[in-house]
Amino acid sequence: MKNALAVLLISISLLSTVGPAFAQEDALAEPRSATLNEAFEGCFLVGTAMNRWFIMDEVPGVLDFASSQFNAVTAENAMKWGRINPSKGDYHFDISDALVDYAQANEMKVIGHTLVWHSQTPDWVFENWRGRPVDRDTLLARLENHMEKVAGRYSGRIHGWDVLNEAILDDGSWRDSPWRRILGEDYVATVFEMAHRIDPQAELYYNDYNMYLPGKRDAVVTMVKDLQARGVPIHGIGMQGHFGIGRPSMEDFTAALDAYGALGLKVMITEMDVTVLPWPDTLAVGADISAAAENRDELDPYTEGLPADIAEAQAEQYAAFFRELVARRDFVSRVTFWGVSDADNWKNNFPVRGRTDHPMLFDRYLQPKPAFDAVIAEAAPCGTE
Ligand code: XIL
Repeated sequence: MKNALAVLLISISLLSTVGPAFAQEDALAEPRSATLNEAFEGCFLVGTAMNRWFIMDEVPGVLDFASSQFNAVTAENAMKWGRINPSKGDYHFDISDALVDYAQANEMKVIGHTLVWHSQTPDWVFENWRGRPVDRDTLLARLENHMEKVAGRYSGRIHGWDVLNEAILDDGSWRDSPWRRILGEDYVATVFEMAHRIDPQAELYYNDYNMYLPGKRDAVVTMVKDLQARGVPIHGIGMQGHFGIGRPSMEDFTAALDAYGALGLKVMITEMDVTVLPWPDTLAVGADISAAAENRDELDPYTEGLPADIAEAQAEQYAAFFRELVARRDFVSRVTFWGVSDADNWKNNFPVRGRTDHPMLFDRYLQPKPAFDAVIAEAAPCGTE
C-alpha cells in the first residue's frame, strides 16, 4: 500500500511535470499523533484542495489521509465552469459528485469554488453563435441556469460558495471582465443575490488573491460596505493566500485580516501555499493564472530536495501566519491549503511550468515537514477555551 502510494505519487509527479518525488521509500504516510483538524478544532476549520486524481481515488491512501488531517475540502478545479460545462449543454458532474459524497461520508465541509470568474470559464458563455458578446439578459439567463445546475444540485450540502472570484485588480480598480462588461457595474450585487436565491443555506464569499495589498484591500472593503448597506447577502471574505517566504509582510497581512474582520464577516485563507521558489522578475507577483514565465535553472533551485535551512525558513513563515490567524479566531473561520502535498501542488507549474516547488506542509511522500510541526505548535491556544 505504501509502495503503491510512492509509485503513484512519483507517476503523478512525472506525468504532470510537477517535479520528481524524493525521499525514503520506507517512510510513507506514518500516522501522526497530532492532526491539523484536531489541533485547530477550537479555532477554525482546516481545509485542503483536491484534484481529480485524488477525488477519484486514483492514488491509494490519499483520500483517507486527507480526511484524517482536514475537515474541509475544495475542488481544485472540478466545480469550475469550464470543467462542469465546457460546451453548451455538455455537463460533467462525476468528479464534483464524488467530492461531495466523500466529504459527506467523512464529515468534511464542502467549499464550492467558484461560480463567477473570468478564468476557466469557456468563451461560449459570453458569446452568441457569431462569436459576438451576448446581451445582459442572455448572460444573466446563462448564469442563472449554471447556478441552478451546479449550486442547485448541491444545495444544502455546500458549506460556502466562492461566489465571485478576482473581480478587483491590485490597485483597487475593477477588473474589466466580460462579466462586468456585459452585466454592468452593479453585477456584484446581482450575482450574490442570485446565489443566495439558489442555495439559501450556503455561506457566500468574495475571494481574491493579493488581498493584503492596501489598494485592493480598501476597494474590497468599500465594495462590501456598499453590499451590506443594501442588504445584499455576503458572509465572508476569502484571501487566497498564495504566499512566499517574506511575502506578504506581517504588517500588510494583519492589517488586511483586521480590515475584513471589522466588516463583521467571516475571514478565511482559502488557497494557502508558501512557495520556496524565486518569483520571476518579469511578472507581477500574484496568482493571475494567465501569468507565465520560461523556466531557467536559477528559478528552480531545489530539484533535488528542500534544503534544511529553507525548510526551516518556510516553517517560521507558516508559523508567523498561523500565529496571527489564531489570534483572530473570533472571525477567522477557515484556513484551506491549496493542495494536499508538494507532489500534487499547482505551484510546481505556476507561474513557471515544470519546476519543483515545496509549498505545502506535507512532502512528496505525505510526510510532515518542519512547517507542519511549526503550524501545529501555533494551535496551542485553540485547545484552551
Ligand atoms: C488553479 C489550479 O490549482 C490549477 O490546477 C489550474 O490549472 C488553474 O487554477 N486562484 C484560484 C484557483 O482561485 O482556482 C486557482 O487554481 C489558483 C489561483
